[in-house]
This record gives sequence, C-alpha cells and structure tokens, in this order.
Amino acid sequence: MTAQLLDGKSIAADIRQQIKTRVDALLAAGQRAPGLAVVLVGENPASQVYVRNKRKACAEVGFRSELHELPASTTQDELLALIDRLNADATIDGILVQLPLPEQIDEALVTERILPTKDVDGFHPYNVGRLVLRMPLLRPCTPKGVMTMLARTGQSLAGLDAVVIGQSNIVGRPMALELLAARCTVTICHSRTKDLAEQVRGADIVVAAVGRPGFVPGEWIKVGATVIDVGINRTEAGKLVGDVDFAGCAERAAWITPVPGGVGPMTIASLLENTLQAAELHAA
Ligand code: GUN
Repeated sequence: MTAQLLDGKSIAADIRQQIKTRVDALLAAGQRAPGLAVVLVGENPASQVYVRNKRKACAEVGFRSELHELPASTTQDELLALIDRLNADATIDGILVQLPLPEQIDEALVTERILPTKDVDGFHPYNVGRLVLRMPLLRPCTPKGVMTMLARTGQSLAGLDAVVIGQSNIVGRPMALELLAARCTVTICHSRTKDLAEQVRGADIVVAAVGRPGFVPGEWIKVGATVIDVGINRTEAGKLVGDVDFAGCAERAAWITPVPGGVGPMTIASLLENTLQAAELHAA
C-alpha cells in the first residue's frame, strides 16, 4: 500500500474532545447542555445501530439526548405532531429523524416540518438552499465530515477535479456542493453515467457513495488521487466493507479512507458540531 490513511476515527476523537471542552465551559457558566432529540420509526436494524452510536457520542461530549422510538405503524400525522412538540421544546436544540422512514410517511414533508435552526442533519430545503448559495447554516453531516478530513490532508482543493459517485440528497448532492464551494471542478456521476471509469480516471478526488461493495476498482484511480469511501456494506460473511476496492485503490492513491473507521465516525462528529452550533444559535 502506498496511500496514507485518512483516519476518521482519530480525527473524530479530536473533534469530540474539542466539543466536550466547550460543553464543559457552557455548564461552568451555568448554561444548559445542548439537547438532541433522535426519532427512530420502526425497527430497521442498521438504523438502530446508527442511532445508538449517535446517542453514545452525545453522552461522551456531555450533550443531553432523548430517544423517541415509534412503531413502524406510526402515521404521518403522529410523526408531524411529535416534531411540532420538539420544535416548541426550548431544551431541544437539534432534531434528527433517522431515515429511511416507513412507506406511509412522506420524508420530504417530515424534513420540512423541522425548524431549520434545529435541523442538525442539514436536510431542510432552507439549509440545502443556503449551501447552494454558499452561505451555509447547518450543513449535511457526511459531506461536512468529508470536508473536515480533506482539510487534514493539507492539500489545497482549489482547481482540483473531483468526481462524486452517487446523487443522493443525503450524500452525493450536498457533497458536490461542498466541493464546488471549495473551488473544485465537480462532476456528479450516477447509474446513467456513460463512462464512469473514464470520469474517475481523471479525478484528483473521488468520493464513492453508491452502496455497492467494492464497486470502484483500483485501476480507475489516478496515481496520487484522494479516495473517500462513504459506503458501509455488510458482506455475507458479516464483514463491513466500503464502496471501493480498498487494497487496489490504496496502491495508487495518495490518501484513502478506511471502512470502518473513515467517514462513518466523521458523520457523527459533524452531527455533534451541528448540535453545538444549533445550541449556540438558540442561545444567541
Ligand atoms: N440515514 C442514513 N444516513 C442518515 C443521516 O445522516 N441522517 C439521518 N437522519 N438518517 C440517515
């Protein structure tokens, strides 16, 4: 392997430490701890793991978190009523509704119901619009975490060719906007892209967010590129693997993120940053 590892686990631990110091200062000044409400509808096992990890991280930095677990049969109106209550609760700074939601519930409607200053996922059209206009308020967590990792490589991003594989609202689209704001030349690729290999071969930065194990082979990677793997896939043997062929890509890349221990912990670190930011907005 020639690539250097972008160690998300260790960068996220640094960020948690910094946040904990700020929370301790808030508490010492007699202010309340930042509060996060996490809403989990149904029993998706992956969502249960993500929610548990997010709440554990909250506890580590001294945030108050509360879990609202609702049955899979929850109606849209019931969920909207809960969000209205959380919007009105002055002890709650952030509201996170874990996605996906059961099919009877319209995700877009739920996302839009959350107050933009409590939208710690950064999914509300207001926050997405602010990102488009380069005046971000609360930024989507995974792309924000990736930008924090890219900053740790010390390389200037301006003028680099970046290819984002995947166009989801949660990762691909906001990722492209973040890279554009950092003055990269950005290409978003998706299932209808004509020659994906050719696009990736030209990229200085590759962000893979497709949800398919080992989808990006090493041969596609330009020598010296930075490879960011957003995928978290479980193989039949129960092993966690990303969207890139790690061994193959690491032969050619200058920097690469591992799975696990790369982007995943950074997503949670960004959620903590956003919750603290929201608490500061509410205290102002
Ligand atoms: N489902 C997958 N990723 C996310 C995320 O970052 N936030 C929420 N709320 N749901 C998700």
